[in-house]
Amino acid sequence: MQKELTKIIVLLSSSKVGEKITVNGWVRTKRESKNVAFIALNDGSTIKNIQIVADKEIISEDILVKINTGAAISVKGELVESKGTEQSVEVIAETIIVLGEANPDEYPLQPKRHSLEFLREKAHLRFRTNTFGAITRIRHAMIFAVHKFFNDKGFYNIHTPIITGSDAEGAGEMFHISVFNPENMPLNEDGSVNYAEDFFGKETNLTVSGQLEGELAALAMSNVYTFGPTFRAENSNTSRHLAEFWMIEPEMAFYDINDNMDLAEEMLKYLVKYALDNCADDLQFLEKRLIDEEKSKPQNQRSEMALIEKLNFVLENDFVRTTYTEAIKILKNSKPNKKKKFNFIIEEWGADLQSEHERYLVEKHFKKPVILTDYPKDIKAFYMKQNDDGKTVRAMDILFPGIGEIIGGSQREERYDYLLKRMREMNIPEKEMWWYLETRKFGTVVHSGYGLGFERMMLFVTGMGNIRDVIPFPRTPKNAEF
Ligand code: 4AD
Ligand code: MG
Repeated sequence: MQKELTKIIVLLSSSKVGEKITVNGWVRTKRESKNVAFIALNDGSTIKNIQIVADKEIISEDILVKINTGAAISVKGELVESKGTEQSVEVIAETIIVLGEANPDEYPLQPKRHSLEFLREKAHLRFRTNTFGAITRIRHAMIFAVHKFFNDKGFYNIHTPIITGSDAEGAGEMFHISVFNPENMPLNEDGSVNYAEDFFGKETNLTVSGQLEGELAALAMSNVYTFGPTFRAENSNTSRHLAEFWMIEPEMAFYDINDNMDLAEEMLKYLVKYALDNCADDLQFLEKRLIDEEKSKPQNQRSEMALIEKLNFVLENDFVRTTYTEAIKILKNSKPNKKKKFNFIIEEWGADLQSEHERYLVEKHFKKPVILTDYPKDIKAFYMKQNDDGKTVRAMDILFPGIGEIIGGSQREERYDYLLKRMREMNIPEKEMWWYLETRKFGTVVHSGYGLGFERMMLFVTGMGNIRDVIPFPRTPKNAEF
């Protein structure tokens, strides 16, 4: 069966005009006149549908009544140049088999625009919409491009563990893994849970980052990257946070923070260019969708650039590189800070930046992507290289328009004594992290890395506004339905 099928993307390239073909797919719409029915069919291979022309003298009425939106059909016929103006080719059906019916009284998707909220409740079917078809294809292209970028540079892909005993970010926002029955946990004499009896003989969690293990690999393989699922039990119900998301984490020996920034900027531009070069139809569709959506917004909330223009803008401009300290000065003097328009008013050096501040810097002040470096050590993780000022660390966050932080990274603390001292100050259990510390004893070198939140990148590339719409099955607080 499979061997005879032609994907719609191939049919539309017109190379098979005049041939007998078989195409399978799902019906998007059906229009009927007295003598013919026109069926728009989609198989996921492209945003475009192929038009099937069903002459009522050839395709019987009892077949045609079953051809409703959502039904799966198999069409045999001839690919011809279309007489219509909407499409260049169409299929003159000779036989149609209804593979799977979709009762129009029950099928929830109509051939009209549904709200994204509605489609989140129908995540099992939303792949069948133009928007989610486009996002799914772009997501695939971006995954492929990530691997291609690093492979072409001689990086090795490392699978780091999903179940770990360590909290890499030290933020404590972890999902615990246990085989204990929660109603009957083995306890120690002092009433605490006796994890020694648990499956791994210790407390374990779902990983929040593959970085620490990535560092181990980099300190032998030179350049590595991970691309895996990460899990955070932070209760932030925002349009930019997921409890389960995918992160790309390169880790490079002999890279300082400047090399790290160069690589990150090059990678982001590579991914944007890959999307522009390979996903043009889908991007055009999403751009048009966004423009339509924005028409309902007040003028001052509309974005200044259309999607493709915005992607090109990022490609063509150097990212601004400046320090956290500079950013604080800018923010303190900014209008929204003085007029108390920010939800979090910036009072003094040391404050953590919220997404509203990051977006102000990018969208209003610099009007370009920004890389901020040298953050206060107290708002960053224990593993970052300490600067000589004793106050800051060699962190780098990349901030993007519409998103805020898209990348977080740093040069790593490679000096054993400094690392140990910092771990003690921050209550990082050094006994459990003995293996991490040992790399600083044996052949330690300057090294750096960063993490790109894959769904944040997807938000940027697709122009979508909510992270729940760029991953097929989002995991967020109180939501793990599909
Ligand atoms: O800044 P983060 O926490 O950095 C790390 O995890 C480091 N270990 C990375 C490294 O240096 N190897 O997270 C990195 C990125 C963020 O910039 C953001 O894009 C994304 O991961 N991210 C999230 N994306 C979706 N939902 C969440 N809850 C996210 N938390 C972080
Ligand atoms: Mg971060």
